[in-house]
Amino acid sequence: MTADLFDDLPPSCEAAQTLLAPGAVLLHGFARADDAALLQAINAVIARAPLRHMRTPGGYTTSVAMSNCGPLGWVSDPDGYRYAALDPLSGQPWPAMPACCLDLAQRAAAQAGFAQFRPDACLINEYAPGAKLSLHQDRDEKDFSAPIVSLSLGLPAVFLFGTPRRSERPQRYRLSHGDVVVWGGPARLAYHGVAPLADGEHALLGRRRINLTFRRANA
Ligand code: SIN
Ligand code: FE2
Repeated sequence: MTADLFDDLPPSCEAAQTLLAPGAVLLHGFARADDAALLQAINAVIARAPLRHMRTPGGYTTSVAMSNCGPLGWVSDPDGYRYAALDPLSGQPWPAMPACCLDLAQRAAAQAGFAQFRPDACLINEYAPGAKLSLHQDRDEKDFSAPIVSLSLGLPAVFLFGTPRRSERPQRYRLSHGDVVVWGGPARLAYHGVAPLADGEHALLGRRRINLTFRRANA
């Protein structure tokens, strides 16, 4: 059975799950019923904190355009990666995490077995066709007891998900509009990434994919 079989589930169906690894689960269509409200909230955030390509310590620019909401935002610049309370573009705090986004993240975490998830950071990633994210671990957070909750909207992507060991070849999963992946516990430091986005047209988002990752950055 492949994930593609779940692409046409009705919005009300939240039952289908795929276990990626112990501690890591893909909740198919979990956010589908809330997509319009989520998108409206995300649009309000990025109107105040615009999506931008960030510079990396290695001298590159990210192919993914990024912004944040919540008390802390993940930023990259030539000095490194870190969480910051202020948007470096505006000098102002990041927009608050919209209630519908926080609620979605907490419900998904609970469904995956992580009760009491209190994210203080939400990174917004926008992929145009061709944009990708190299294999990496999320390890800029202070403590790894909280999971990562990842919400996908728009064009489908190929998600690479491995183990905490870089040498192990990652598996490939299709992430569709409304899918949520939660990884924590033994999978918290799993290597993951996104293959170059295939071109297409999504009814709600057009030629792009938006991914939100909710994290607990401070202990
Ligand atoms: C991330 O690893 O921060 C984003 C993953 C994704 O876009 O699915
Ligand atoms: Fe990541």
